[in-house]
Amino acid sequence: MCEAARELERVAEEVRACRRCPLHAHRTNAVPGEGNPCARVMLIGEAPGYNEDLHGRPFVGAAGNLLNEMLKLAGLSREAVFITNVVKCRPPGNREPSEEEKEACKPFLIRQLRAIKPEIVVCLGRHSAGVVFGMAGAKFSSIMSARGTVRLLRVAGLEVKCLPTLHPAAALYNPRLRGLIEADFRLLGQLASGGAGGLERWL
Ligand code: URA
Repeated sequence: MCEAARELERVAEEVRACRRCPLHAHRTNAVPGEGNPCARVMLIGEAPGYNEDLHGRPFVGAAGNLLNEMLKLAGLSREAVFITNVVKCRPPGNREPSEEEKEACKPFLIRQLRAIKPEIVVCLGRHSAGVVFGMAGAKFSSIMSARGTVRLLRVAGLEVKCLPTLHPAAALYNPRLRGLIEADFRLLGQLASGGAGGLERWL
């Protein structure tokens, strides 16, 4: 096992035992994240939902099915990428995670980023983009204005190409948003295959 895989396993163990915020009291399973320890692409969602809490795996419900389709559009498999969330335990009733919960979980995300050293970070939704932009000291106003633009950010001591997009669940509630997510994942496909260099915008 390589060092990245060992560190990810240590993080996962700590996440499963974590009591840093009240969410631990409601969980069936914590959801540390999963995928390739050497992934070039890391996707960061918001928080586990009902199915994720049940199985201890990220994006295995309806939003996960849509995410799988989007990854296919980008020419990527789930095995090639690493998928995690900002918050590793399900907020009760699928409510949005609080600032305190996101803050309590941030050290795990930082360690995952440092272990994997991804070249590309895809932020799924406003909570993810808010946390990642915040870690880089970059301004984030809304997911609608940030989505679809690649930014070079310095997060967790790494320089990453950050691509914010809408959360896949947004397209489940409003199918008209699906086209925007598709466009962003096509751009991800270009980025991952080494193209789209001119689209990067320095802060
Ligand atoms: N939504 C998320 O943000 N993460 C999951 O793991 C599932 C649904």
